[in-house]
Amino acid sequence: MTRIVYVNGEYLPEDQAKISVFDRGFLFADGVYEVTSVLDGQLIDFEGHSKRLERSLGELDMVSPVTMEDLLGIHRELVHRNDVTEGMIYLQITRGADADRDFVFPDPETVPSSIVLFTQSKNLADSPAAKVGMKVISIEDIRWGRRDIKTVQLLYPSIGKMMAKKAGKDDAWMVEDGFVTEGTSNNAYIVKDGKIITRHLGNEILHGITRATVLRFAREAQMEVEERSFTIDEAKTADEAFITSASTFVMPVVEIDGVALGDGTPGPVASRLREIYLDESRKVAV
Ligand code: PDD
Repeated sequence: MTRIVYVNGEYLPEDQAKISVFDRGFLFADGVYEVTSVLDGQLIDFEGHSKRLERSLGELDMVSPVTMEDLLGIHRELVHRNDVTEGMIYLQITRGADADRDFVFPDPETVPSSIVLFTQSKNLADSPAAKVGMKVISIEDIRWGRRDIKTVQLLYPSIGKMMAKKAGKDDAWMVEDGFVTEGTSNNAYIVKDGKIITRHLGNEILHGITRATVLRFAREAQMEVEERSFTIDEAKTADEAFITSASTFVMPVVEIDGVALGDGTPGPVASRLREIYLDESRKVAV
């Protein structure tokens, strides 16, 4: 079955979908994106993702080519046309294709934003990685200062994943001024004496939609949550650790820079939160 993607108002087979070579997403990484997961053919945390998209666009003075209500319809149509029961929907909006390469932003009245969405079918809920846990390395965080905006500038996160891969590990946690910011494509957490510790929000990290939902569920389940910075040394002495993102939900971390956490297997807090997140999110999926 050929995948159907959405490009600037049209649903097209993937090999017929085209974007201009002058598109600013391509030339300047001048674009924002969202990844929304699909379980049982329904969208998880959709409202959070669309709200963050609006915020990202606003922070960059970009104009959405579609309304947020249209977006829900497009997501659903793609799930339907591609028969996705489980996986992700990737959405990208860029500042469009000007007549030439120019650092100056084009006038949005004359150059409309470009929009692309596509589906990726994948087993997410029964991921084998959730049973064994992930091993991470720490690397320096040398990204730009507005990581709260979900831009498509993902070269350094990509390099970070390659560094982890070369070291025989699964991912990297980034460190700035001695403190962990986040994972290459996820938010980072440690657990000590039952308390969940994760970096406070700011421009230094992406405000994860999964993070917000997981912390709400944790508090509702009477778990203690502390939003503050932590170092890699503190993380190495934690009882357990985990990450969150739309594509991994809650994923245990069992090793940091070669040091096993606890007994080196997924911890009870991460496992419980994963269960709660999957159960509760499914109930309110759209
Ligand atoms: N990444 N931090 C970074 C740097 C991320 O790229 C992501 C998401 C997150 C988690 O955000 P959320 O819970 O809203 O997915 C945190 C997506 C999944 C990606 O790039 O594929």
